Amino acid sequence: MEFDFKGQTAVVTGGTRGIGRAVSEAFLKAGAKVIATYRSNEEEAKKFTEANAAHAECLDIYKFDVTCYDEVENFYKEVEKKHGALQIVVVSSGIRSDSIVGMMKTEDWNNVIDTNLTGTFNISKLAVQYMMRQKYGRIIALTSPIGKLGFAGQANYAASKAGQVALVKSLSKEVASRKITVNCVSPGFIDTDFISDLPDEQRDAYKKQVPLKRFGSPQDVATPVLFLASKESSYITGSVLEVTGGL
Ligand SMILES: NC(=O)c1ccc[n+]([C@@H]2O[C@H](COP(=O)([O-])OP(=O)(O)OC[C@H]3O[C@@H](n4cnc5c(N)ncnc54)[C@H](OP(=O)(O)O)[C@@H]3O)[C@@H](O)[C@H]2O)c1
Repeated sequence: MEFDFKGQTAVVTGGTRGIGRAVSEAFLKAGAKVIATYRSNEEEAKKFTEANAAHAECLDIYKFDVTCYDEVENFYKEVEKKHGALQIVVVSSGIRSDSIVGMMKTEDWNNVIDTNLTGTFNISKLAVQYMMRQKYGRIIALTSPIGKLGFAGQANYAASKAGQVALVKSLSKEVASRKITVNCVSPGFIDTDFISDLPDEQRDAYKKQVPLKRFGSPQDVATPVLFLASKESSYITGSVLEVTGGL
């Protein structure tokens, strides 16, 4: 699929690694200016920057924690000063910290909710303030089918992902009149560090459950994200696009 994002700027949180990295690279290939953000993994951020040296003029990297409102606010201020208008925001920052509810530490509950749900709120709240002024914008958050289905050992993650969908659907209604669309992409099993702790036996068992009989690649998710970010997707808002291999 050929996309043209020349003249547009995209922020991608979690944009130096995993699904976010594939999204950042797809935007760069399609001519966008990309601002990729991460929290702490310097090594992966460096690898990502080096691998995309050919696009250095169109790429900027920021390090901050999406759970910290002040850091998010500073980030947007700097982006506005340095890059001006901002058309696209993709929230691909996320974590999981699994445990059954009876054994779950409050800290694990809070960390996952703060990162996945409050992080999406912080990033989206400030994004719409910029987008409202320019009467255009695209916000896409990476959620998960687990938010709809639930999963033993992932109550915190499931709750955060269900919350993201509720946030996105509500926000989409608030900003539709300003031509800002807000959607979710909901990937199934995607081969990134996020699920690299799964034992081989479990991976094989999960793959058998996927009708397409494989895990997705980060690039499999990047294309639908770019589709929702494109000007052509102007009549899609408040939706959840599943990218699960039919799971
Ligand atoms: N992979 C899957 O199978 C799958 C399936 C369904 C949904 N998803 C969702 O897709 C999104 C991306 O997943 P992924 O597989 O790409 O994960 P990943 O490879 O683990 O990458 C996660 C990214 O999020 C960033 N991040 C984490 N906490 C942050 C924080 N507090 N502030 C700022 N950045 C933070 C990380 O930064 P650092 O690099 O600095 O650590 C990293 O760049 C997540 O929301 C995940 O829930 C993934």
